[in-house]
Amino acid sequence: MGATAFFYILLFLWVQDTAATLGFTRSDFPQDFVFGASTSAYQYEGAVSEDGRSPSFWDTFTHAGKMPDKSTADVAADGYHKYKEDMKLISDTGLEAYRFSISWSRLIPNGRGAVNPKGLQYYNNIIDELVKRGIQIHITLYHLDLPQCLEDEYEGWLSPKIIEDFTAYADVCFREFGDRVTYWTTVNEPNIAAITSYGSGQLPPGRCSDPFGITNCTAGNSTTEPYIAVHTTLLAHASVVRLYKAKYKAEQKGVVGINIYSFWSYPFTQSTVDLEATQRCKDFMYGWILWPLVFGDYPQVMKKNVGYRLPSFTKVQSELIKDSFDFIGINHYYSVYVNDRPLETGARDVMGDMSIYYRVSRTDPPVGKAAPTNVTSDPKGLQLVLEYLKDAYGNPPIYIHENGLESTNGGLNDTDRVDYLSTYIGSTLDAIRNGINVKGYFAWAFMDLFELLSGYQSNYGLYRVDFDDESRPRQARLSARWYSGFLKKNASSIRLSRVQEDLTLNTVF
Ligand SMILES: *[C@@H]1O[C@H](CO)[C@@H](O)[C@H](O)[C@H]1NC(C)=O
Ligand SMILES: *[C@@H]1O[C@H](CO)[C@@H](O)[C@H](O)[C@H]1NC(C)=O
Ligand SMILES: *[C@@H]1O[C@H](CO)[C@@H](O)[C@H](O)[C@H]1NC(C)=O
Ligand SMILES: *[C@@H]1O[C@H](CO)[C@@H](O)[C@H](O)[C@H]1NC(C)=O
Ligand SMILES: *[C@@H]1O[C@H](CO)[C@@H](O)[C@H](O)[C@H]1NC(C)=O
Repeated sequence: MGATAFFYILLFLWVQDTAATLGFTRSDFPQDFVFGASTSAYQYEGAVSEDGRSPSFWDTFTHAGKMPDKSTADVAADGYHKYKEDMKLISDTGLEAYRFSISWSRLIPNGRGAVNPKGLQYYNNIIDELVKRGIQIHITLYHLDLPQCLEDEYEGWLSPKIIEDFTAYADVCFREFGDRVTYWTTVNEPNIAAITSYGSGQLPPGRCSDPFGITNCTAGNSTTEPYIAVHTTLLAHASVVRLYKAKYKAEQKGVVGINIYSFWSYPFTQSTVDLEATQRCKDFMYGWILWPLVFGDYPQVMKKNVGYRLPSFTKVQSELIKDSFDFIGINHYYSVYVNDRPLETGARDVMGDMSIYYRVSRTDPPVGKAAPTNVTSDPKGLQLVLEYLKDAYGNPPIYIHENGLESTNGGLNDTDRVDYLSTYIGSTLDAIRNGINVKGYFAWAFMDLFELLSGYQSNYGLYRVDFDDESRPRQARLSARWYSGFLKKNASSIRLSRVQEDLTLNTVF
């Protein structure tokens, strides 16, 4: 017996153990619930200057050496060339849905106007592969990769000019792909993106101002720009939803939503100030986006703490934004502990306005800026987010668009990720049983990708990608095998058909 075969037998025994202790199966979830996995264009595709794609502001950012590991996504997982085998792999794994994004600068290289036929062909090819295999398609229009030309022309999301260009881009996507695609998300996590792109400067366009930046920013204003960017994003989102309803919905019968970054927040102590700080954290993180969408305005505490720096909606804008969604997507990775932080009188960034400190574990030092990068598993936190969104925002349909773990094991034996995914999926089921309207679950990520905060330093993939190998081979990790078993074999039956399962695993991958 070879070492490899032995390794897989060990993996296999481990899969069985996990399955045996899960206590639920695929069929415990509602019939129309979907399980899938996610990627995004810049993180997956590579081929950044091929076939007419123009640079996005990510190319500018990475080429300026701004990633912690100085990496770029020039090749990334080479999805531009390997999409066909990847769509087959999605199907072979047993995924029911796939979430990916379109690169605006590949489809419309000038930001507005002419459509790039090669870009159009690429996305049509992916969609056709998925349709052929019966995979439900979820497309994000904007996964944080703006055409650089629009950043140059009018500073992107800081200008209301983007509303018209984003709507025209969405129009092209609906027109060209809407016959086969019915699940659309306008923007990926605008809340955390605003903080990291315009507050701490960690993501492009890398704007910030002293003393709030984590990187050296040459331009920006951390006290105002995050609020302006979100405001413009909400207006652009609402404009796209209005377009879809007016022009496409009757015929295409699709749904359009938006995505938010969500962590669960526990009070660090039960003191009144910490309890209030925890509520403030929720009002800022979820309410920044969801209050306008559900109630037509920003939360009261944001207006109070941010003051004149928070843009306001006209009555017409407010009406346009209110109810402009069919579902909410959440990206969820961890929970935090929240401490009160007195509201400072000088200049404040978003974290200052929120007036909290937070930490990722009880024993960690408090964080005052941006997002923590280390994550500990807290499956209950996902259930609490889902239940909170129901209570606070009227039980909207929710898709878990991203959930996953950076494994401490870069190899194939990612037992920590299997533990994480299986317990978070269990927590999702608990929420469903409590009446929460959750419609789908997507693991982040289908394979290792260029990660937005860490380049190639962290791995989130169900499939391992060898970035040192020119051909970027994909290899199934234990987590891919586990997920596949859960979906195809209806989990608990794995134990009953051990031999069959072993054969299947070895022939499928
Ligand atoms: C995989 O990792 C687990 C611990 O995380 C360990 O117990 C097991 O022996 C490993 N399996 C293999 C095949 O290396
Ligand atoms: C910021 O600039 C200073 C001075 O030029 C330099 O010492 C420091 O390493 C830079 N920090 C980052 C994160 O680039
Ligand atoms: C940021 O904008 C505010 C409000 O306009 C202004 O008071 C402040 O001076 C600006 N800060 C910087 C660093 O430009
Ligand atoms: C998380 O990160 C903080 C700050 O980098 C560090 O001090 C802490 O030890 C880390 N915690 C865990 C659980 O890894
Ligand atoms: C999945 O397993 C459960 C429990 O073992 C069983 O009740 C159900 O019928 C199975 N569903 C399918 C589709 O095989």
